[in-house]
Amino acid sequence: MKKITKAVFPVAGMGSRFLPATKASPKEMMPVVEKPLIQYAVEEAVAAGITDMVFITGRNKRAIEDHFDKAYELEAELAARGKDELLRIVQEVIPKHVNCIYIRQTEALGLGHAVLCAQPVVQDEAFAVILADDLIDGEVPIVKQMVDVYAQYQCSILGVQDVPRSQTKSYGIVSSTNLEKNVERVSGIVEKPAPEVAPSTLAVVGRYILTPRIFHHLAQVRPGSGGEIQLTDGIAALMREEQLLAYRFDGIRYDCGSKLGYLQAQVAFGLKHPELRDEFSAYLATVK
Ligand code: UTP
Repeated sequence: MKKITKAVFPVAGMGSRFLPATKASPKEMMPVVEKPLIQYAVEEAVAAGITDMVFITGRNKRAIEDHFDKAYELEAELAARGKDELLRIVQEVIPKHVNCIYIRQTEALGLGHAVLCAQPVVQDEAFAVILADDLIDGEVPIVKQMVDVYAQYQCSILGVQDVPRSQTKSYGIVSSTNLEKNVERVSGIVEKPAPEVAPSTLAVVGRYILTPRIFHHLAQVRPGSGGEIQLTDGIAALMREEQLLAYRFDGIRYDCGSKLGYLQAQVAFGLKHPELRDEFSAYLATVK
């Protein structure tokens, strides 16, 4: 059995919901407390044993490359000033054994197209896809949970969670039958159905394990609304050919692509932060 060694991070979206913050810098560099979203996502992949990080980047994404690169001047300056703890933080942004690979998506043609851009690097291996704006806090990191399910079933797996029926319009929604605790066999998937026609309330969120056959299907997908190539359409075609599972992960998800979710993440991570939690929780108690 082959291990999952590659994770794809599509980071080429417009991030329009966060304009003007995302005018010149990527949404994935927005911090939750002191760490950018993309760093949480990479740490999750590392915790799952993944060693090759494939970033699908677009315009204004140079900051991500710089973030995971060595920062010679900053490091020299921190060393000269004896700021050893900060130097350690900067040097440990990414472990030394991890490779970062950058592929440019020249036009934002949709999430499906972004994943397809990873084909030359991923080739014929199963791989993870992580959307950094879905920040998921789990005792066991979510991608690790999914890699463990993959080890058992060796097929594509979608990270899912139940959402209120009124919100189905914001997600890919699956129909499924239960296989074992937290694991469903997917029999259908639709993109953003209205609540009255949604087949269930089980929503796909930003974690996937995909077999390489997905590339074949994504290459056939016709652009849908807004001219975007939807990952959901590729997955629907894959499902007709191979077993597809949905995994109800164990963790709390913050939709950091939305302002409300981003604020909720700041509060939750602030309340867990070793340096901040006492003062921050005392402060929150005073807020009406
Ligand atoms: P979103 O639907 O959240 O779009 O993309 P967005 O552009 O990032 O944000 P808004 O809606 O304009 O505020 C889901 C994920 O797919 C990536 C995004 O970077 C995000 O991680 N994506 C989307 C791409 O990499 N390329 C695309 O062409 C579209």
